[in-house]
Amino acid sequence: MTTASAPGKIILVGEHAVVYGRPAIAAPVWQVQARATVEETPNEACRIVAPQIGLNIRLADAAPNEPLALVARLALGKLGAASPPEWRIEARSDIPMASGLGSGAAISAAVARALFAHAGQELPVETLSQIVFASERIHHGRPSGIDNTVIAWETPIWFVKGEAPQPIRPGWPFTIVIADSGVPAPTRETVAHVRQGWEQDPARYEAWFDEMGEIAAKARSAMEAGQLRRLGRLFDKNQTLLERIGVSSPVLERLIDAARHNGALGAKLSGGGRGGNVIALVEPAIAPLVEEGFRSAGARRVITTTI
Ligand code: MEV
Repeated sequence: MTTASAPGKIILVGEHAVVYGRPAIAAPVWQVQARATVEETPNEACRIVAPQIGLNIRLADAAPNEPLALVARLALGKLGAASPPEWRIEARSDIPMASGLGSGAAISAAVARALFAHAGQELPVETLSQIVFASERIHHGRPSGIDNTVIAWETPIWFVKGEAPQPIRPGWPFTIVIADSGVPAPTRETVAHVRQGWEQDPARYEAWFDEMGEIAAKARSAMEAGQLRRLGRLFDKNQTLLERIGVSSPVLERLIDAARHNGALGAKLSGGGRGGNVIALVEPAIAPLVEEGFRSAGARRVITTTI
């Protein structure tokens, strides 16, 4: 049996604007992971199983738009398999679904990695990213590609759509507390909502996206220089702009207020918005206070990570 895994992810700054060609920064979250196993099942047709989403199907019978089956077909195609081998592929994840932590992309990445590892072949990171991107298109319609890229690279990245990502080396270990609002993040809807606004008033939206892009550039330099307070202020500014484009919500703002009230240096929604996650930048010593503040404000799950 072969096992492989992939981490969750958060977007630090630049979500939504990244769809319009502006830079964004994302980072892996190792506290949550997806795992996949591949085992030989002689004389049985290739099967793909993901108990958490009720998937248990022969690969040959899976619909073309079943994301994990697409990943398996693409990976096996790249491995040169003429027909599906007699393998059982099973995927599991402790990343909450639709929470903005990239659960779909991580499961896809784990499956592709497990298939390549079982075949004894190296999986180039660009190939992995492309395979995961194909499954992301089923989930989200027209994704920028940031989620599959950060999960494939497994390092903080500076990402511009259509360009090679640049790894970021933080000059300081930044502590981030992540709160899951418990409300599913309707990424497809929020992306469509932003597009509608942009179509109605392109000049105004372009100016907001420019501001978000500038925030991303400053956030990168703050990260590289280890400037904690400056990065915190940039989180807050980015949140104000995300509120303007209509992807925040009262539930998320309640969590953001709780983080700031408990001493966070900055806080914002992360990902598609309207639901999903809020992230707060903190001094390590006050992480427990912010965690507790998040819980009292109704967070379903709280994770503290270091970037
Ligand atoms: C979702 O994780 C991030 C968005 O910017 C969408 C995308 O980049 O495809 C909202």
